[in-house]
Amino acid sequence: MLVPECGTVRPGMSDSGSSFELVDVPGGLPLFGHAGIFKNNPLRTMAEWWRRHGDALRFRLGPKTLHLFSHPTLAEEVLVRQADRFVKVYDPRQPVGLALVLGNGLVTSSGEVWRRHRRIIQPIFHRARLTAMADRMVQIGERRIAGWSEQLEHPFDVAAEMMVLTLEVISHTMFTTSVAQHIEQISHALRVSLRYAFDSFHNPLHPPTWLPTRRNREFQEVTAFLDRLIYALIAERRQSGRRYNDLLDRLLEARDEETGAGLTDQELRDEALTIFAAGHETTANALAWTWYLLATHPAVKARFHEELDRVLQGKRPTVDDLPNLPYTRALFDESLRLFPPAPAIQRKAATDTRVGGLSLPAGSVVLIGTYNLHRHPEFWSEPDRFAPERWLSDHQLPARCAYLPFGAGPRACVGTHFALIEGPLLLALIGQCYDLRLAQERVEPQLMVTLRPKDGILMTRHPRLKAAISTASR
Ligand code: HEM
Repeated sequence: MLVPECGTVRPGMSDSGSSFELVDVPGGLPLFGHAGIFKNNPLRTMAEWWRRHGDALRFRLGPKTLHLFSHPTLAEEVLVRQADRFVKVYDPRQPVGLALVLGNGLVTSSGEVWRRHRRIIQPIFHRARLTAMADRMVQIGERRIAGWSEQLEHPFDVAAEMMVLTLEVISHTMFTTSVAQHIEQISHALRVSLRYAFDSFHNPLHPPTWLPTRRNREFQEVTAFLDRLIYALIAERRQSGRRYNDLLDRLLEARDEETGAGLTDQELRDEALTIFAAGHETTANALAWTWYLLATHPAVKARFHEELDRVLQGKRPTVDDLPNLPYTRALFDESLRLFPPAPAIQRKAATDTRVGGLSLPAGSVVLIGTYNLHRHPEFWSEPDRFAPERWLSDHQLPARCAYLPFGAGPRACVGTHFALIEGPLLLALIGQCYDLRLAQERVEPQLMVTLRPKDGILMTRHPRLKAAISTASR
């Protein structure tokens, strides 16, 4: 199996294990620990703690003790070198957090179940197989922006718009047209259930799921809706025997190369929902942040527009154009650096172990702070500056494990290629048709399952190339 590594070693960087000092974050309360301040704003709290106290920290959320690691060496130890010792935090016998919604799919499973599913699913996401889906992505994008020309004077929330767009992309690449009429309901169900899952995990005061509270009932209703929908789609596809060459077909056909076995309906449900959930919110937020960064950096935006106009000359982008759009890709990479959709990656030590000279007993929970890593001054020059040119070929690549938007090691994102085709293609498509300008003063990041703009981002759309827009609205 392909095990993604952490990238390149920066010249002069030592490969040997350095020693770290573990600092206890001050200010924990007797019963709740640091839950109050953490829950209030987890992203800002993790960033401030890191800047103030260092790369290896320990803190408490109620009864749980957590470690926050914000150094590439520690990230590499946990995610790559000791990947077999640092497991996901979910237990299928007592599902909490995301496992309540996603069941035992790729994101939440561990051990032999995960290994088998990853073997089956990884080939579906090979770059060569995805290029066939790129055209669909552009078509969905074109359809979505076709209505924009009638709403030019209205500011719109680009974050919400990107969420619908990427949901439509994953729906169509996964299930072809069969879920189109349910998009609104699916979007609502995913939003409610993922937020509920996030809160149930991070809030020590979260009421147990069996209590008949309003939020528990709402959660049960939306998960029941998602179950009904996905099981019906699987049954319909199995019965009709029709093939659409979409992700569901590929999940149904996929066989374990070692045993020849496929996935059961329950496993298909969990994997379909996992890919659905993991495959749209992350990309949507990455795109929303990219539009925000472009809107606040006019010189970068001008260079982006120049590249699109020169390379595409008004025609719709295809996957073959991507190698000729290096600046567009660099924008996306840089946006993932400053606003990684997964700003912290969580693991639990399955056995006693040592990391960077620190002893961690079995059961220790570790957060790899990717948001912090991506702004670490030892590994990035001008870390807080939006500088897409740092990704162009004549610049030095980042240090190993200093850049982890898609994670690293065996559990790295299986949808990396999908996202790296979808993101730049949608940027190119929209960017050549419209200039998006910021229509609000302050935009604040918020960690809520993924790193999203709190309260959205209001923008106005200004037409650019008439030829491209009329192709898009046809
Ligand atoms: C910009 C977009 C994306 C970002 C930033 C992103 C980020 C990540 C990260 C950081 C992980 C690893 C989490 C961990 O180690 O605990 C992950 C895992 C995963 N991602 Fe993505 N992702 C993106 C897009 C996608 C897409 C488009 C899909 C599917 C179509 C997808 C499906 C998955 C799955 C199934 C896993 C679990 C893999 C495993 O544990 O074996 N992701 N993603």
